[in-house]
Amino acid sequence: MTIVLGIESTSHTFGVGIVQRNYYGIRILANECSKYIPVRGGIHPREASLHHAREAPRVLKSALDKAGISIKDVDAIAVALGPGLGPCLRVGATLARFLSSYYSKPLIPVNHAVAHIEIGKFVAGFTDPLVIYVSGGNTLVAIQRKKRYRILGETLDIPLGNLLDTFAREVGLAPPYVVNGKHQVDICSERGQNFIDLPYTVKGIDLSFSGLLTASLKYAEKIKARQELGDICLSLRETAFDMIVEVAERALLLTGKKEVLLVGGVASNNVLRQKLETMAALHGARYEGTPPEVSGDNGAMIAYTGLLLYEHGTTIEPEKAFIKQRWRLDEVELPWLLD
Ligand code: FE2
Repeated sequence: MTIVLGIESTSHTFGVGIVQRNYYGIRILANECSKYIPVRGGIHPREASLHHAREAPRVLKSALDKAGISIKDVDAIAVALGPGLGPCLRVGATLARFLSSYYSKPLIPVNHAVAHIEIGKFVAGFTDPLVIYVSGGNTLVAIQRKKRYRILGETLDIPLGNLLDTFAREVGLAPPYVVNGKHQVDICSERGQNFIDLPYTVKGIDLSFSGLLTASLKYAEKIKARQELGDICLSLRETAFDMIVEVAERALLLTGKKEVLLVGGVASNNVLRQKLETMAALHGARYEGTPPEVSGDNGAMIAYTGLLLYEHGTTIEPEKAFIKQRWRLDEVELPWLLD
């Protein structure tokens, strides 16, 4: 039996997850978190890191209590060392290095993007999916090949989550960005009735959202009635999501994969899920979207990926466990991936 504790602190969320491998398989024993919600504006890295440092002891204790174990029962400590915001990453890395050194536990370096994909595959039961990864920091299409995730296409400027958040913030809909599990752009879209033509920029399997954001904001400056903001939100969302579906479909036909997996923070969006599910069904592929409990940033995905790495002998000395703010998905070699 192996128990791994995982720490996530790359951006707005401080999370601690605990997973266990026993005779029957792998179970998530705990997945506790605390989210930094800005009073105004976007994520302020220093304020988010102060939030993480304040909340870390409580979240750690809560995860151990939930799992019904003490830190001494843990076999290894996993931590997301990147990619992410420097001040935020340092909080998780410092805690992980301390726990590893003080309790003499092996330390496991986890790439946050790899963890989003691995937890999605685990929950879906997929082995070789076409991965559509959409979040506040990433928008990409990837497959596994020769022991790595290979990026077939990605955003050339801002990520999808950033597009939705920035628009909502600039027109005064946010923060908070999400209410009862729905993004403010989705809530506002419900008032929309008319589709407005907005920039749709797809280049092969790459896409670009900055023109769409600029054009939507220009429209929003000119509106006179609240109804019209609904039209813009609806058109912005439909345009952006259709771009994602187009690149996903092109990649699916190119690779001939039989599984389509949606991961990352925006994977909890029902409209996007339905669009991708319809597209996958048209081509006879199975579709799964990561459930909301593990699609946003969380400690369980770090613990789970940490467990896989630990079982394949990947550990790091605490004094060498530096944060990597720009640690790309395709830099990481993963022994359990297909050749
Ligand atoms: Fe993330």
